[in-house]
Amino acid sequence: MRRDLTDQVAVITGASSGIGAATARAMAAAGIDVVLVARRRDKLDQVASEVRALGRRAHVIVADVADGGHVDRILDETDRVFGHFDIVFANAGYGMERPMHETSNEEVRRMFEVNFFASVALLQAAANRLQRARRGGHLLMCSSCVSKFALPGHGLYAATKAAQESVCRAMRFELAPDNIEVASVHPITTTSEFFDTSAARSGLRGGSIPAHTPRWFVQSPERVAKAIVACLRRPRSEVWTSTIVRLSAALFTAVPFALDLVLRREAKRQRVVRARVAAIGATAIQTPANGYSSSVHNRRS
Ligand SMILES: NC(=O)c1ccc[n+]([C@@H]2O[C@H](COP(=O)([O-])OP(=O)(O)OC[C@H]3O[C@@H](n4cnc5c(N)ncnc54)[C@H](OP(=O)(O)O)[C@@H]3O)[C@@H](O)[C@H]2O)c1
Repeated sequence: MRRDLTDQVAVITGASSGIGAATARAMAAAGIDVVLVARRRDKLDQVASEVRALGRRAHVIVADVADGGHVDRILDETDRVFGHFDIVFANAGYGMERPMHETSNEEVRRMFEVNFFASVALLQAAANRLQRARRGGHLLMCSSCVSKFALPGHGLYAATKAAQESVCRAMRFELAPDNIEVASVHPITTTSEFFDTSAARSGLRGGSIPAHTPRWFVQSPERVAKAIVACLRRPRSEVWTSTIVRLSAALFTAVPFALDLVLRREAKRQRVVRARVAAIGATAIQTPANGYSSSVHNRRS
């Protein structure tokens, strides 16, 4: 049965841009009040105005999800302002492109801290509160399609996303008797600030979606947001926004050799790029084959 979402309250982390901001707007359009969490107040205020323009209430909480103690602060403040919450979307996260053997331990820990540990802590605390309140609810984490197949240069990021998926899958069945739904979200390449942040963290300048990314592998944050709201109305364990990628993931699991062929080619391409970069002193060379990017990214000084 299609659920009515009117007057529900949702907490969204990473709500200052991209998927989180689009989800806040889509939820507001569906009748949901939202608590917007991220580090940049100006961006959160902008999203809050858009939510209010859609006729719903919005509350902004500035927090770094990697800070211990943020979880209770977010949920306490939500209870204080709205009296309760029904939905929590742990969406804050970032990526980085670098071969695993060149990634420092600190970088590994930091990404797990933001993408995984912070999401787990938020969903655990939310589940306990919803259980005590006996009111049911819906918990989601923003994983990725790469939770199913790690790409060369993105091994660490894919590991954080696969870990999120595993936790969501288990929680879904642990919490089902309490009427608490749990889902992982698996976007494909999405036009957001993600690639700027990733480029900056990878020591690259620029940040466009790589030029070799096929057009059918790129989508808008609004597309993801729409799928999330559809999941709130008709709960499911995984939210996918591309049938072709979902089917490819299934094929790669059944026939890992097929995935190896694709990844071998991708790893070779990356090596060629890095060799050319080393020769000319730039950190990424992209061919403007499909219009997403036309830049040569220079090494950050
Ligand atoms: N874009 C893609 O292609 C893609 C594909 C699959 C999955 N995803 C996942 O989708 C989620 C959202 O990404 P996006 O594409 O919307 O990218 P985005 O536009 O860069 O959004 C990332 C959000 O996370 C917040 N954030 C990052 N670190 C934070 C921290 N330490 N504390 C609090 N907030 C933090 C950022 O806000 P502040 O900087 O203001 O704190 C921002 O609101 C991420 O989990 C990402 O892994 C993205």
